[in-house]
Amino acid sequence: MIRAGIIGVAAAIAVAAVGGAMATAAPEPKPTLATSLQPVSAFATIRDRDARSQALFAEVGKVLQHPRCLNCHPATDRPTQREAMTPHMPMVVRGDGGIGATALRCTTCHGPANYDVSGVPGHPAWHLAPPEMAWAGKSLGQICQQLKDPARNGGKTMPEMIEHMKSDTLVGWGWKPGGKRLPAPGTQAEFGALFEAWAKSGAVCPA
Ligand code: HEC
Ligand code: HEC
Repeated sequence: MIRAGIIGVAAAIAVAAVGGAMATAAPEPKPTLATSLQPVSAFATIRDRDARSQALFAEVGKVLQHPRCLNCHPATDRPTQREAMTPHMPMVVRGDGGIGATALRCTTCHGPANYDVSGVPGHPAWHLAPPEMAWAGKSLGQICQQLKDPARNGGKTMPEMIEHMKSDTLVGWGWKPGGKRLPAPGTQAEFGALFEAWAKSGAVCPA
């Protein structure tokens, strides 16, 4: 935990130093978005355990690489928005602890729930994932390795990670994003079950 914290702070400083230049980088173009998930049972026919594990993670990846998640796990210190994952407007930065710069906290605009009158999404813990948890622009295999690494996953054990996927309400926002936003595919319960099945089949990462 302490080590992860120090790395996080160092990375935050590094990102802050180059943030101005990086924030203008164009987001990766995205393929057509999935709207549903296959059930865990659909993978039972894959005899080879490693191949089954990798296939399960590919299904999990339909959620992890969805804009609803990537917009808050960006490659730079600026969140992205909408399905096209364009840089957040107005310009906002991560700041200390992901809550925004001193003069412009996330909570200045993001309330404890979605506000459909203005279309601003919300949640009581609305803030940006730290730099070591950046997923945008990475391959699914890289994201997978990162999720298994306590130095880059907030010090979580695999059981804690499964629990986070299944029941964390900020993760859950991805399925009820409000406004015209497309929800993440399937349901959080289906997603959690796939992630757990992946972990129990050896947690093998795609190449
Ligand atoms: C509003 C911003 C926001 C959104 C949207 C969001 N996250 Fe996160 N996520 C965070 C923050 C902040 C953390 C850091 C841990 C914490 O403070 O809870 C985090 C941490 C995580 C972690 C644990 C650390 C890691 O990366 O290994 C996982 C797993 C995760 N998020 C999954 C998701 C998934 C899946 C979605 C989409 C369905 C999602 N998140 C959407 C902000 C967000
Ligand atoms: C000045 C107001 C303001 C501030 C401050 C602000 N936001 Fe936003 N944010 C918005 C508005 C408005 C939208 C909706 C944009 C749209 O989709 O039309 C938005 C959308 C988003 C989205 C896109 C959700 C999605 O999937 O499309 C993310 C992610 C986000 N904000 C994260 C943050 C984070 C993290 C912070 C603090 C570091 C922050 N915002 C600070 C106004 C703000």
